[in-house]
Amino acid sequence: MKEFYTNQKSQELFKKALKYIPTGIPGHLGPVQSQFIPADAFPFYAERAKDSYFWSIDGNKYIDYMCAYGPNILGYNNDIVDRAAAEQLKKGNCMALPAKAQVELAELLCGTIEIADWAFFLKNGGDATSFAVMTAKAATGRSKTIRVQGGYHGVAPWTQAEGANGITAADMKDIIVIPWNDTAAFEKAVAENKDSIACFIATPYDHRIFADNALPLPGYWQKIREICTKNGIVLIVDDVRCGFRLHIEGSAKYFGFKPDLACYCKALANGYNISAVVGIDALKSAAGSIFFTGSYWSSAVPMAAAVACITEMKRLDIANLFIEKGKKFGSGMIDAGRAHGIDMKFSGVESMPFMRISNDPTMEMMQDFCAECVKRGVFVVSHHNHFMNASLTDADIKKTIAVADEAFAAVAKLHPDKIN
Ligand SMILES: Cc1ncc(COP(=O)(O)O)c(C=O)c1O
Repeated sequence: MKEFYTNQKSQELFKKALKYIPTGIPGHLGPVQSQFIPADAFPFYAERAKDSYFWSIDGNKYIDYMCAYGPNILGYNNDIVDRAAAEQLKKGNCMALPAKAQVELAELLCGTIEIADWAFFLKNGGDATSFAVMTAKAATGRSKTIRVQGGYHGVAPWTQAEGANGITAADMKDIIVIPWNDTAAFEKAVAENKDSIACFIATPYDHRIFADNALPLPGYWQKIREICTKNGIVLIVDDVRCGFRLHIEGSAKYFGFKPDLACYCKALANGYNISAVVGIDALKSAAGSIFFTGSYWSSAVPMAAAVACITEMKRLDIANLFIEKGKKFGSGMIDAGRAHGIDMKFSGVESMPFMRISNDPTMEMMQDFCAECVKRGVFVVSHHNHFMNASLTDADIKKTIAVADEAFAAVAKLHPDKIN
């Protein structure tokens, strides 16, 4: 019988981690949030990564479609970005003053993203969304934020749901949640809260977890823009996950509208830790008026890495490259599933596809499919969109489809009653 990957070292280290770290691996990389079911099919710790691959501490090599949940855009340890980072590290990283790279990066972002007249740097996507909301409040003197049900903007209390552990009613007092793609609900919320809405924040399209992703309906963003302009509401696009994957000038450009602020993080520096908020000139003084900073926010290495990463993404025409790769991945998966009587449904965009099995509402088949892929060296998860990266080769995709073919065969055996 064929040998599949096993994960003894991961399991042992995880046991030790549970002793010293709450939940062992906190956050979205942990086995619970990542939906590693059954857990023993999955690696828990990576030893190293290069291009489209990572190697677990058990020495297993994976073709990785999670891309660190977004930061890997050019390929892990991309030589161009790493060289720029290493050169800056030799000069200095965390210093008592920012480096020249800060200005260079701001200028580059302003020359790249359609709406950017200025840029402000932080560390995580959640820093960026919180800063954007605070800027809107400072600019308008208003207190309320409208956001979309199921949208993810980080972990600050205002981004979470009432009833979540550690979140109180007071945290939610100024938050209004509306459904995605619903301009009538937006208009209603604005009318019911006349002159108290500071901002509307949403991702460029609905890339929620555990459900099909949904693009904006025709005219959706244009209508939202119109209502915001009419009512003095700051329009914030959270491009933390999609940024540069739909359009190098911003996902708003891809969907044909202009926000007032846009938040970036994941792909900005190919894994070096930095985020950014860019905005229109009219909000520059509000952005400068609020107190918002951090120990590492001016670190120079991620800024030098971001300059190199953006320059390389432009050279590669990365968004179009991803459409090509995403199409090959998607059509290959769908065909492989069909050969085993399994219907795969893809949603979202080619560069960040969300995939599931059609007649599988409990996601049990999808969990089995992912586990069977992971056991054979293709890293996919059942609940989250996947990511293309520039180093993914046709040979990687071909191998992935061959693995998927075996995984679908295994799923068909496990769920004979659900096969078409
Ligand atoms: C759309 C979006 N906004 C904000 C965030 C939060 O970013 P971070 O985890 O870097 O704080 C994420 C993270 O996944 C995200 O996908």
